[in-house]
Amino acid sequence: MVFWALIGTQIAVAKTFKMAIGDAAGGTQWELGTKFRDLMTESSQGKVNIELFPNGQLGNEQDTVNNAAIGLLDFSILAINNVTPFSPTVGLLTMPYLIQSTEEAVELTQGKTGQELTENTIRDAGVRIIGWAYSGFRVLTNSKKPVRSPEDLKGLVIRVPRNEIMIASYQAWGVNPTPMAWSETFTGLQQGVVDGQDNPYITVHAMQFNEVQKYVTNLRYIFSLEPLVISESIFQQQPQELKNMIVDAGKKASEHSVMFLLEKEHQIRRALEQKGMVFYEPADGERIWKEQVVKSVWPKFYSSIGGREQVDKALHVLGR
Ligand code: MLT
Repeated sequence: MVFWALIGTQIAVAKTFKMAIGDAAGGTQWELGTKFRDLMTESSQGKVNIELFPNGQLGNEQDTVNNAAIGLLDFSILAINNVTPFSPTVGLLTMPYLIQSTEEAVELTQGKTGQELTENTIRDAGVRIIGWAYSGFRVLTNSKKPVRSPEDLKGLVIRVPRNEIMIASYQAWGVNPTPMAWSETFTGLQQGVVDGQDNPYITVHAMQFNEVQKYVTNLRYIFSLEPLVISESIFQQQPQELKNMIVDAGKKASEHSVMFLLEKEHQIRRALEQKGMVFYEPADGERIWKEQVVKSVWPKFYSSIGGREQVDKALHVLGR
């Protein structure tokens, strides 16, 4: 917790904030966090120091939401699917096949929809979203065999986050996935407790999953969004100048995140190929995958995300 004394608009007393990061250094979460830290150092003229703790050092992603909500942690960067259990309306952003491109992800998070979801998350989860990492589509990886159609999933044990929408998606594809905390996933894959998982190329690379996974299926069912959140109680304790600095740095770091994704995604896919991963396109242009989830999963979650009209509104914003 940090208390500030101000002389005019100059921050006179500075303390350090702690930021939890779920992924290892080198991924989109790290890029967002380091950019935010640097911007804060710059705008506070060195008075604000943000310490980054990557790779789940401060607890698994879902725990960091609880800790921030009760003021034990200042900041966290985590995948949106790990915020949904505390703030169900953000489940809109993980509705399978709703977001179809980086531009659409930016449109939804930076516009009115993003603002509404931020307000709901303050109310429901006690944390405020101040920035977004844009990480790309979650591709499926596994250690056993090429997967092109949902049929091919039979016999594979797939790890998913503890997220009802993602669990229901795999069930619609005919398998029962294994919910597992993110911080346990590498070990789970390494020890063969689970055979596969889904996450974007950049995350797969940062986490070195290529060491324990071989086959990649280029699914586009969820575009991975990873918010930077601040404990709402800690945010409210800060003077207005500092609140403005935090909000501004969050916006600029998000813009940087889009550029990082656009620059790095292909390069990182090539790096994964060079490290031995083999890539497959989903059969039939992903039509069967899509039809099976949109038909059965969307209706199950209309009420938790605030009604079918939320999906309709999002589709309208996206011009579909
Ligand atoms: C998860 O699969 O739990 C998250 O998407 C991982 C992440 O934060 O990158």
